[in-house]
Amino acid sequence: MAHQITLFPGDGIGKEVATATRRVLDASGVKIDWEEFEVGAEAFLKNKEYVPREAYESIERTRVGLKGPTATPIGGGFASINVALRKKYELFANFRPIKNLPGIPTRYPGVDLIIVRENTEGEYVGIEHEVVPGVVESLKIITEKGSTRISKFAFQYSRDFKRKKVHAVHKANIMKMSDGLFLACARKVARDFQEIEYKESIIDATCMQLVMNPYQYDVLLMENLYGDIVSDLCAAFVGGLGLVPGANLGHECAIFEAVHGSAPDIAGKNIANPTALLQSGVLMLHHIKEHAAAERVQNALEFVYRRKKDKLTKDVGGPASTSEFADAVIESLSDPAAQAPYDPSAETVAATK
Ligand code: NAI
Repeated sequence: MAHQITLFPGDGIGKEVATATRRVLDASGVKIDWEEFEVGAEAFLKNKEYVPREAYESIERTRVGLKGPTATPIGGGFASINVALRKKYELFANFRPIKNLPGIPTRYPGVDLIIVRENTEGEYVGIEHEVVPGVVESLKIITEKGSTRISKFAFQYSRDFKRKKVHAVHKANIMKMSDGLFLACARKVARDFQEIEYKESIIDATCMQLVMNPYQYDVLLMENLYGDIVSDLCAAFVGGLGLVPGANLGHECAIFEAVHGSAPDIAGKNIANPTALLQSGVLMLHHIKEHAAAERVQNALEFVYRRKKDKLTKDVGGPASTSEFADAVIESLSDPAAQAPYDPSAETVAATK
């Protein structure tokens, strides 16, 4: 039976990277009925709606979405479509794996981190007002329910995927009540997962420690704002935002998305790199329990990075277009050499020291 998936290509390079991703996923052998909708700033200019009603209805039916980047609307509308979707569908867990791709020059070979960010609370509730002219108040909301829910997600993921250590990242030394509550919930949940080492780490020191030695961390659990910042910091370990996947997960619904923006400077030129959305597509295949296909796509993608450098896009040093890159990944899906097991850490290039 075919999987129903809602696809939001998004703005700018969104259509190009979504087309490439869709072609690869369709070639993976998994049957997908795509329900595709225009969302974002370009959709607003055409239809006067950032997200049409049919798009919401689709996601409520399929419960699984794949989303390209959307430009943040200017002059009204949502603060951000991403934030709106996360709130509407209670996509409380932002999940970002940080792992090197072979052949991408980095100061940090062999990184393997998981970032679990609370996606619905903290400063991002957007409750701000001007108290008196020149004084603005912005509220940070932390709840026991939200903090417990995200902590359970991080620990359960660690148990399921045999991760060894969870660090709760906080600033409870200063924000004693809000971050204090977050930590208290994390500690309580940790007690039910005795086989996983539980540690706590102050956000500023964590940033320094990450840059000094990211290998000391395994799973990082944090509230919204810290998670937003730290997940971009960690993306730099493996080549930047153009490469890393992301997922927004709730109990009812999941949306997988590229974390980079709509890149208006290169939109429409068929030169954007679809790797981030394709890797998000791999996470999506795992989510719909198509594990074998997910691995095939990941192997094919990594094979292109390892062995077909003439098929890489310009941002990662190659000469190829978006569609040529997608063609190469599709070809590698059925190449036995691409599907053979290999040790990624052995091939990662440490180009700069
Ligand atoms: P951006 O990520 O779109 O671009 C930053 C730089 O990275 C540009 O030089 C761009 O060409 C390059 N780049 C980004 N993705 C690439 C890819 N896949 N392949 C090759 N090069 C790539 O960030 P920027 O310029 O700050 O934002 C542009 C728009 O995107 C804004 O409207 C912003 O609000 C929106 N945005 C949307 C996001 C989302 O929907 N998840 C996330 C970040 C920004």
